[in-house]
Amino acid sequence: MKIEGKEYRTIWLDEKNNTVKIIDQTKLPHQFIIKDLKTVKDAINAIKTMEVRGAPLIGGTAAYGIVLAILENKDLDFIKKSSEELVQSRPTAINLQWAVHRMNNKLSMINSSDLFDVALKEAKEICDEDVGFCENIGINGLKIIEEIYNKKKDTVNILTHCNAGWLATINWGTATSPIYHAHKKGIPLHVWVDETRPRNQGANLTSYELNEEEVPNTIITDNTGGLLMQRGEVDMCIVGTDRTLSTGDVCNKIGTYLKALAAYDNNIPFYVALPSTTIDWNIKNYKDIPIEERNSEELSHVEGKDDEGNIKKILIYPNKSKAKNLAFDITPAKYVTGLITEKGICVASEEALKKMFNK
Ligand code: MRU
Repeated sequence: MKIEGKEYRTIWLDEKNNTVKIIDQTKLPHQFIIKDLKTVKDAINAIKTMEVRGAPLIGGTAAYGIVLAILENKDLDFIKKSSEELVQSRPTAINLQWAVHRMNNKLSMINSSDLFDVALKEAKEICDEDVGFCENIGINGLKIIEEIYNKKKDTVNILTHCNAGWLATINWGTATSPIYHAHKKGIPLHVWVDETRPRNQGANLTSYELNEEEVPNTIITDNTGGLLMQRGEVDMCIVGTDRTLSTGDVCNKIGTYLKALAAYDNNIPFYVALPSTTIDWNIKNYKDIPIEERNSEELSHVEGKDDEGNIKKILIYPNKSKAKNLAFDITPAKYVTGLITEKGICVASEEALKKMFNK
Protein backbone atom coordinates (compact mmCIF):
# COMPACT_ATOMS: atom_id res chain seq x y z
CA MET A 1 0.00 0.00 0.00
CA LYS A 2 1.02 3.63 -0.24
CA ILE A 3 2.87 6.11 1.92
CA GLU A 4 3.07 9.60 0.43
CA GLY A 5 1.95 8.08 -2.87
CA LYS A 6 4.76 5.47 -2.99
CA GLU A 7 4.03 1.72 -2.83
CA TYR A 8 5.66 -0.19 0.02
CA ARG A 9 5.60 -3.57 1.67
CA THR A 10 6.37 -3.68 5.39
CA ILE A 11 9.49 -5.86 4.99
CA TRP A 12 11.84 -6.65 2.13
CA LEU A 13 15.40 -7.74 1.46
CA ASP A 14 17.98 -5.39 0.04
CA GLU A 15 19.71 -8.07 -2.03
CA LYS A 16 22.83 -5.98 -2.76
CA ASN A 17 23.72 -5.65 0.91
CA ASN A 18 21.94 -8.73 2.28
CA THR A 19 20.07 -6.45 4.66
CA VAL A 20 16.44 -6.76 5.70
CA LYS A 21 14.53 -3.48 5.52
CA ILE A 22 11.57 -2.63 7.76
CA ILE A 23 9.43 0.41 8.43
CA ASP A 24 10.13 1.32 12.08
CA GLN A 25 6.55 1.38 13.44
CA THR A 26 7.59 2.82 16.83
CA LYS A 27 8.32 6.09 15.01
CA LEU A 28 4.97 6.38 13.19
CA PRO A 29 2.99 8.54 12.65
CA HIS A 30 5.42 11.42 13.22
CA GLN A 31 8.47 10.02 11.45
CA PHE A 32 8.73 7.60 8.52
CA ILE A 33 11.98 5.72 9.02
CA ILE A 34 13.19 2.66 7.12
CA LYS A 35 15.46 0.61 9.32
CA ASP A 36 18.09 -2.04 8.46
CA LEU A 37 18.15 -5.43 10.18
CA LYS A 38 21.61 -6.93 9.72
CA THR A 39 21.68 -9.75 12.28
CA VAL A 40 19.21 -12.17 13.81
CA LYS A 41 19.59 -10.19 17.06
CA ASP A 42 18.34 -7.11 15.16
CA ALA A 43 15.28 -9.10 14.03
CA ILE A 44 14.60 -10.35 17.58
CA ASN A 45 14.96 -6.83 18.93
CA ALA A 46 12.64 -5.40 16.23
CA ILE A 47 9.92 -7.88 17.25
CA LYS A 48 10.40 -7.33 21.00
CA THR A 49 10.37 -3.54 20.80
CA MET A 50 7.50 -3.60 18.29
CA GLU A 51 9.37 -1.84 15.50
CA VAL A 52 7.51 -4.56 13.63
CA ARG A 53 4.29 -5.91 15.05
CA GLY A 54 1.02 -7.54 14.01
CA ALA A 55 0.79 -11.32 13.76
CA PRO A 56 1.59 -11.87 10.04
CA LEU A 57 4.41 -9.31 9.98
CA ILE A 58 6.00 -10.83 13.09
CA GLY A 59 5.95 -14.17 11.24
CA GLY A 60 7.56 -12.66 8.13
CA THR A 61 10.24 -10.94 10.25
CA ALA A 62 11.05 -14.19 12.05
CA ALA A 63 11.46 -15.94 8.68
CA TYR A 64 13.90 -13.25 7.53
CA GLY A 65 15.53 -13.43 10.99
CA ILE A 66 16.54 -17.01 10.21
CA VAL A 67 17.96 -15.89 6.86
CA LEU A 68 20.07 -13.34 8.77
CA ALA A 69 21.16 -16.02 11.26
CA ILE A 70 22.41 -18.19 8.36
CA LEU A 71 24.34 -15.25 6.93
CA GLU A 72 26.10 -14.87 10.27
CA ASN A 73 26.80 -18.52 11.01
CA LYS A 74 25.71 -21.70 9.21
CA ASP A 75 26.29 -23.83 12.30
CA LEU A 76 23.08 -25.78 13.04
CA ASP A 77 23.31 -25.12 16.80
CA PHE A 78 23.40 -21.38 16.14
CA ILE A 79 20.38 -21.60 13.82
CA LYS A 80 18.50 -23.67 16.41
CA LYS A 81 19.33 -21.27 19.26
CA SER A 82 18.36 -18.27 17.09
CA SER A 83 15.07 -19.99 16.19
CA GLU A 84 14.27 -20.52 19.88
CA GLU A 85 15.04 -16.89 20.69
CA LEU A 86 12.85 -15.74 17.82
CA VAL A 87 9.91 -17.86 19.03
CA GLN A 88 10.29 -16.38 22.51
CA SER A 89 10.46 -12.77 21.35
CA ARG A 90 6.65 -12.36 21.60
CA PRO A 91 4.39 -15.08 22.97
CA THR A 92 0.82 -14.54 21.75
CA ALA A 93 0.78 -14.26 17.94
CA ILE A 94 0.99 -17.83 16.64
CA ASN A 95 2.32 -16.76 13.23
CA LEU A 96 5.72 -16.31 14.86
CA GLN A 97 6.18 -19.96 15.86
CA TRP A 98 4.41 -21.09 12.68
CA ALA A 99 6.95 -19.24 10.50
CA VAL A 100 9.96 -20.43 12.52
CA HIS A 101 8.78 -24.05 12.34
CA ARG A 102 8.13 -23.78 8.61
CA MET A 103 11.63 -22.37 8.02
CA ASN A 104 13.28 -25.07 10.15
CA ASN A 105 11.33 -27.87 8.45
CA LYS A 106 12.45 -26.56 5.09
CA LEU A 107 16.08 -26.35 6.20
CA SER A 108 16.29 -29.67 8.01
CA MET A 109 17.73 -31.75 5.14
CA ILE A 110 19.66 -29.04 3.26
CA ASN A 111 23.43 -28.97 2.65
CA SER A 112 25.27 -26.17 4.38
CA SER A 113 26.24 -24.60 1.02
CA ASP A 114 22.56 -24.30 0.00
CA LEU A 115 21.17 -23.09 3.34
CA PHE A 116 21.11 -19.39 2.51
CA ASP A 117 19.45 -19.72 -0.91
CA VAL A 118 16.80 -22.14 0.39
CA ALA A 119 16.09 -20.01 3.48
CA LEU A 120 15.81 -16.82 1.46
CA LYS A 121 13.41 -18.45 -1.03
CA GLU A 122 11.24 -19.75 1.82
CA ALA A 123 11.16 -16.39 3.66
CA LYS A 124 10.13 -14.68 0.42
CA GLU A 125 7.45 -17.31 -0.12
CA ILE A 126 6.08 -16.84 3.41
CA CYS A 127 5.77 -13.11 2.74
CA ASP A 128 4.34 -13.46 -0.80
CA GLU A 129 1.82 -16.02 0.45
CA ASP A 130 0.69 -13.60 3.15
CA VAL A 131 0.10 -10.90 0.55
CA GLY A 132 -2.08 -13.33 -1.45
CA PHE A 133 -3.99 -14.45 1.66
CA CYS A 134 -4.66 -10.87 2.72
CA GLU A 135 -5.77 -9.90 -0.77
CA ASN A 136 -8.25 -12.80 -0.79
CA ILE A 137 -9.50 -11.81 2.68
CA GLY A 138 -10.28 -8.44 1.11
CA ILE A 139 -12.11 -9.95 -1.85
CA ASN A 140 -14.17 -12.16 0.49
CA GLY A 141 -14.88 -9.45 3.06
CA LEU A 142 -15.87 -6.96 0.37
CA LYS A 143 -19.08 -8.97 -0.16
CA ILE A 144 -20.21 -8.21 3.41
CA ILE A 145 -19.59 -4.49 3.00
CA GLU A 146 -21.34 -4.48 -0.38
CA GLU A 147 -24.37 -6.19 1.13
CA ILE A 148 -24.62 -3.59 3.89
CA TYR A 149 -24.23 -0.78 1.36
CA ASN A 150 -26.86 -2.21 -0.98
CA LYS A 151 -29.36 -2.26 1.89
CA LYS A 152 -28.39 1.05 3.47
CA LYS A 153 -27.62 3.04 0.30
CA ASP A 154 -25.49 5.34 2.41
CA THR A 155 -21.98 5.49 3.90
CA VAL A 156 -21.01 2.25 5.63
CA ASN A 157 -19.59 2.88 9.12
CA ILE A 158 -17.04 0.28 10.19
CA LEU A 159 -15.41 0.08 13.61
CA THR A 160 -11.97 -1.48 14.02
CA HIS A 161 -9.65 -2.03 16.97
CA CYS A 162 -5.84 -1.91 17.10
CA ASN A 163 -4.02 -2.13 13.77
CA ALA A 164 -4.85 -5.13 11.64
CA GLY A 165 -3.93 -3.01 8.67
CA TRP A 166 -1.29 -3.46 5.98
CA LEU A 167 1.32 -2.34 8.50
CA ALA A 168 0.50 -5.44 10.58
CA THR A 169 0.93 -7.76 7.60
CA ILE A 170 3.15 -7.67 4.53
CA ASN A 171 0.52 -5.82 2.48
CA TRP A 172 -3.27 -5.17 2.41
CA GLY A 173 -3.86 -6.03 6.10
CA THR A 174 -6.51 -8.41 7.37
CA ALA A 175 -9.29 -6.25 8.88
CA THR A 176 -8.44 -3.39 6.52
CA SER A 177 -8.28 -5.46 3.34
CA PRO A 178 -12.10 -5.60 2.84
CA ILE A 179 -12.13 -1.87 3.63
CA TYR A 180 -9.46 -1.09 1.00
CA HIS A 181 -11.23 -3.28 -1.56
CA ALA A 182 -14.57 -1.56 -0.89
CA HIS A 183 -12.94 1.88 -1.06
CA LYS A 184 -11.27 1.03 -4.40
CA LYS A 185 -14.70 -0.07 -5.67
CA GLY A 186 -16.17 3.30 -4.80
CA ILE A 187 -18.39 2.21 -1.89
CA PRO A 188 -18.70 5.18 0.50
CA LEU A 189 -17.11 4.21 3.81
CA HIS A 190 -16.12 5.69 7.10
CA VAL A 191 -13.97 3.93 9.69
CA TRP A 192 -14.20 4.45 13.45
CA VAL A 193 -10.66 3.82 14.66
CA ASP A 194 -10.28 2.73 18.29
CA GLU A 195 -7.26 4.57 19.69
CA THR A 196 -6.10 1.29 21.32
CA ARG A 197 -4.33 2.24 24.51
CA PRO A 198 -1.66 1.86 25.67
CA ARG A 199 0.39 1.71 22.46
CA ASN A 200 -2.20 3.51 20.35
CA GLN A 201 -1.86 1.26 17.30
CA GLY A 202 -5.27 2.50 16.14
CA ALA A 203 -4.40 6.18 16.30
CA ASN A 204 -0.73 5.89 15.33
CA LEU A 205 -0.96 3.22 12.64
CA THR A 206 -4.53 2.46 11.45
CA SER A 207 -5.61 6.08 11.10
CA TYR A 208 -2.23 6.90 9.53
CA GLU A 209 -2.46 4.18 6.88
CA LEU A 210 -6.14 4.93 6.13
CA ASN A 211 -5.21 8.60 5.67
CA GLU A 212 -2.45 7.64 3.23
CA GLU A 213 -5.01 5.61 1.22
CA GLU A 214 -7.58 8.43 1.56
CA VAL A 215 -10.14 6.32 3.43
CA PRO A 216 -12.29 8.60 5.64
CA ASN A 217 -11.74 7.76 9.32
CA THR A 218 -12.15 9.17 12.81
CA ILE A 219 -10.17 8.21 15.91
CA ILE A 220 -12.23 7.49 19.04
CA THR A 221 -11.18 6.54 22.55
CA ASP A 222 -11.44 2.86 23.35
CA ASN A 223 -14.57 3.48 25.42
CA THR A 224 -16.57 5.32 22.76
CA GLY A 225 -17.58 2.41 20.52
CA GLY A 226 -20.43 1.25 22.78
CA LEU A 227 -22.22 4.60 22.64
CA LEU A 228 -21.76 4.86 18.87
CA MET A 229 -23.27 1.39 18.51
CA GLN A 230 -26.27 2.37 20.68
CA ARG A 231 -26.74 5.45 18.48
CA GLY A 232 -26.79 3.36 15.28
CA GLU A 233 -23.53 4.88 14.06
CA VAL A 234 -21.72 1.57 13.53
CA ASP A 235 -22.84 -0.82 10.76
CA MET A 236 -20.24 -3.50 11.39
CA CYS A 237 -17.02 -4.24 13.25
CA ILE A 238 -13.98 -5.91 11.71
CA VAL A 239 -10.90 -6.77 13.76
CA GLY A 240 -7.82 -8.92 13.28
CA THR A 241 -6.47 -11.67 15.52
CA ASP A 242 -3.16 -12.94 16.88
CA ARG A 243 -4.38 -16.46 17.41
CA THR A 244 -7.75 -18.01 16.66
CA LEU A 245 -8.44 -21.43 18.12
CA SER A 246 -10.03 -24.18 16.06
CA THR A 247 -12.99 -23.70 18.43
CA GLY A 248 -13.51 -20.24 16.91
CA ASP A 249 -12.40 -18.35 20.04
CA VAL A 250 -10.45 -15.28 19.01
CA CYS A 251 -7.43 -13.84 20.79
CA ASN A 252 -6.70 -10.25 19.78
CA LYS A 253 -5.52 -6.92 21.15
CA ILE A 254 -6.77 -6.09 24.64
CA GLY A 255 -10.19 -4.44 24.43
CA THR A 256 -11.46 -6.50 21.50
CA TYR A 257 -13.67 -8.60 23.81
CA LEU A 258 -15.46 -5.52 25.19
CA LYS A 259 -16.15 -4.30 21.66
CA ALA A 260 -17.59 -7.71 20.72
CA LEU A 261 -19.86 -7.63 23.78
CA ALA A 262 -21.15 -4.19 22.86
CA ALA A 263 -21.69 -5.29 19.24
CA TYR A 264 -23.59 -8.38 20.41
CA ASP A 265 -25.81 -6.30 22.69
CA ASN A 266 -26.62 -3.95 19.82
CA ASN A 267 -27.09 -6.58 17.10
CA ILE A 268 -24.15 -5.32 15.10
CA PRO A 269 -22.18 -7.86 13.04
CA PHE A 270 -18.73 -8.51 14.51
CA TYR A 271 -16.28 -10.04 12.02
CA VAL A 272 -12.74 -11.26 12.53
CA ALA A 273 -10.40 -11.29 9.51
CA LEU A 274 -7.51 -13.76 9.48
CA PRO A 275 -5.18 -15.73 7.29
CA SER A 276 -5.10 -19.49 8.04
CA THR A 277 -1.56 -19.02 9.43
CA THR A 278 -3.19 -17.42 12.51
CA ILE A 279 -5.22 -20.52 13.39
CA ASP A 280 -3.97 -22.59 16.33
CA TRP A 281 -5.16 -26.14 15.60
CA ASN A 282 -3.64 -27.52 18.83
CA ILE A 283 -4.85 -25.50 21.82
CA LYS A 284 -8.51 -26.22 22.56
CA ASN A 285 -9.04 -24.10 25.67
CA TYR A 286 -8.56 -20.36 25.37
CA LYS A 287 -7.20 -20.25 28.93
CA ASP A 288 -4.09 -22.02 27.60
CA ILE A 289 -3.21 -19.18 25.20
CA PRO A 290 -0.10 -17.36 26.45
CA ILE A 291 -1.15 -13.75 27.02
CA GLU A 292 1.70 -11.28 26.76
CA GLU A 293 2.21 -8.93 29.67
CA ARG A 294 4.29 -5.93 28.67
CA ASN A 295 6.17 -3.31 30.67
CA SER A 296 3.85 -1.09 32.73
CA GLU A 297 5.82 1.92 31.48
CA GLU A 298 3.75 1.62 28.28
CA LEU A 299 0.76 2.72 30.41
CA SER A 300 2.39 5.25 32.69
CA HIS A 301 4.25 7.15 29.94
CA VAL A 302 3.05 8.60 26.65
CA GLU A 303 5.10 9.73 23.70
CA GLY A 304 4.16 12.51 21.33
CA LYS A 305 5.32 15.56 19.39
CA ASP A 306 5.46 18.96 21.08
CA ASP A 307 4.66 22.25 19.37
CA GLU A 308 8.32 22.67 18.37
CA GLY A 309 8.25 19.33 16.57
CA ASN A 310 10.32 17.47 19.17
CA ILE A 311 9.34 13.89 20.09
CA LYS A 312 8.96 13.63 23.88
CA LYS A 313 8.01 10.94 26.35
CA ILE A 314 6.25 12.06 29.51
CA LEU A 315 4.93 10.43 32.70
CA ILE A 316 1.13 10.68 33.08
CA TYR A 317 0.53 8.51 36.19
CA PRO A 318 1.12 9.32 39.85
CA ASN A 319 4.72 8.42 40.78
CA LYS A 320 3.66 5.80 43.31
CA SER A 321 0.93 4.06 41.25
CA LYS A 322 1.28 0.52 40.03
CA ALA A 323 -0.03 -0.46 36.59
CA LYS A 324 -0.73 -3.75 34.80
CA ASN A 325 -0.30 -4.06 31.07
CA LEU A 326 -1.93 -7.17 29.57
CA ALA A 327 -1.68 -6.99 25.80
CA PHE A 328 -4.38 -9.37 24.51
CA ASP A 329 -7.80 -10.75 25.42
CA ILE A 330 -10.13 -13.45 24.17
CA THR A 331 -13.45 -13.05 22.43
CA PRO A 332 -15.46 -16.27 22.74
CA ALA A 333 -16.73 -17.68 19.44
CA LYS A 334 -20.37 -16.99 20.37
CA TYR A 335 -19.79 -13.24 19.96
CA VAL A 336 -18.18 -13.57 16.53
CA THR A 337 -20.55 -13.24 13.55
CA GLY A 338 -18.06 -14.73 11.12
CA LEU A 339 -14.42 -15.38 10.29
CA ILE A 340 -13.18 -13.83 7.04
CA THR A 341 -10.35 -15.98 5.72
CA GLU A 342 -8.47 -16.34 2.45
CA LYS A 343 -10.68 -19.29 1.59
CA GLY A 344 -14.02 -17.68 2.36
CA ILE A 345 -16.24 -16.63 5.26
CA CYS A 346 -17.37 -19.13 7.88
CA VAL A 347 -18.99 -19.16 11.30
CA ALA A 348 -16.61 -19.27 14.26
CA SER A 349 -16.86 -22.97 15.05
CA GLU A 350 -14.63 -26.02 14.95
CA GLU A 351 -16.89 -27.72 12.42
CA ALA A 352 -16.89 -24.77 10.02
CA LEU A 353 -13.14 -24.12 10.32
CA LYS A 354 -12.24 -27.77 9.78
CA LYS A 355 -14.52 -27.91 6.74
CA MET A 356 -13.03 -24.72 5.31
CA PHE A 357 -9.44 -25.93 5.71
CA ASN A 358 -9.95 -29.67 5.07
CA LYS A 359 -8.76 -30.70 8.54
O1 MRU B 1 0.62 -5.87 19.85
P1 MRU B 1 0.41 -5.83 18.37
O2 MRU B 1 0.39 -4.45 17.82
O3 MRU B 1 1.37 -6.75 17.64
O4 MRU B 1 -1.05 -6.43 18.17
C1 MRU B 1 -1.58 -6.55 16.89
C2 MRU B 1 -2.98 -7.03 16.89
O5 MRU B 1 -3.58 -7.25 17.91
C3 MRU B 1 -3.61 -7.30 15.55
O6 MRU B 1 -4.98 -7.13 15.62
C4 MRU B 1 -3.30 -8.74 15.12
O7 MRU B 1 -1.94 -9.03 15.20
C5 MRU B 1 -3.78 -9.01 13.74
S1 MRU B 1 -2.71 -8.28 12.54
C6 MRU B 1 -3.34 -8.54 11.01
